[in-house]
Amino acid sequence: MFDATLTGRAAVVTGASRGIGEAIAAALLRSGADVTTLQRGPHSDELRATARELGRTLAHVPVDFADSRSVGAAIDQVGAVDILVNNAGAQIRHDAVDFPLDDFERVLAVNVNAVFQLSQGFGAGMVERGSGKIVALASLLTFQGGLRVPAYAASKGAVGQLVKALSNEWAAHGVNVNAVAPGYVRTEMNEALIADAERFRQLSDRIPAGRWASAEDIASAVVFLCTPYADYIHGAVLPVDGGWLAR
Ligand SMILES: NC(=O)c1ccc[n+]([C@@H]2O[C@H](COP(=O)([O-])OP(=O)(O)OC[C@H]3O[C@@H](n4cnc5c(N)ncnc54)[C@H](OP(=O)(O)O)[C@@H]3O)[C@@H](O)[C@H]2O)c1
Repeated sequence: MFDATLTGRAAVVTGASRGIGEAIAAALLRSGADVTTLQRGPHSDELRATARELGRTLAHVPVDFADSRSVGAAIDQVGAVDILVNNAGAQIRHDAVDFPLDDFERVLAVNVNAVFQLSQGFGAGMVERGSGKIVALASLLTFQGGLRVPAYAASKGAVGQLVKALSNEWAAHGVNVNAVAPGYVRTEMNEALIADAERFRQLSDRIPAGRWASAEDIASAVVFLCTPYADYIHGAVLPVDGGWLAR
C-alpha cells in the first residue's frame, strides 16, 4: 500500500551520543534515512559501524542545547531536512524545597526552549515545502508529576503541549508533529533509580509488561511516526510504556 521506507530522507536526531537517541539514529539509518546528529560529543563506534555497513551518510554537528546561539548556528549549518527528532533531554534531581533556580532554568532550556527553537528552525522549511515529520521525546512525566524532578516534569508537560500547538498550525501544510512518551528505559538518565534497589523494585512491579523498555522499543515508535504510515497522526503523545499509564 505504502512505501514505508525512509530511503533518501534527511533526518536530524538530537542527543544521539548514547541511550535512546543513539537507538533512534541507528533505527533511522536502518530504515533508509541519512542522519545528522546534533550532540556535544562524537558518535559511538557502534553507530559509526551501522552507518558504514548500510552505506548511509552519518554526519555530526556539535551543539549545546542549553545555549540558544549554539542551537541557531547548528540549524543554519544543517539546512533543510525531512525529519527532526527532538530527543536530547536533561534531568536534574533535588527535593523541590532545595531545587536551585539555575538548575530549573537549565532543564527548561534544554528540554523546552531548544525543542521549540529546533522545531521552528527546521519546521519553517517543512511548512514551505509542504511535508515533514517532527517527533519529540515526551515522558510519563508529561502526564504525571514524579518525585524530586519538578523541572523535568514541568518541561515534559510543556513538550506535550508544544507538539499540539505546532501541529494545530502545521498539519494543514503536510507537517506531522507528534511525541513519544517512553516509560522506564534502562539508560544513564535513570542511573539513580536503577541504583536504588527498593525504588527499582517498586517501579518494576508496577509495569504491566513486566519489564523496563529497551531503547529500541522507543526507537521503533519514533521511526513509525516518521513514516507515511503515520501521515494522518497529528498532535499525538504516544505512550510506549509497557502499559504503565493504563494501570
Ligand atoms: N530513559 C528514560 O526512561 C526516559 C523516559 C522518558 C523520556 N525520556 C526522554 O528520552 C530522551 C532521551 O533520554 P535518554 O534516557 O536516552 O537520556 P540520556 O542517556 O541521559 O541521554 C541524553 C542525551 O541528551 C544529550 N544532552 C543532554 N543535555 C545536553 C546539552 N545541554 N547539549 C547537548 N546534548 C545534551 C546527552 O548528550 P551528552 O552525551 O553530551 O551528555 C545525551 O546524548 C530525553 O528527552 C528523555 O527525557 C527518557
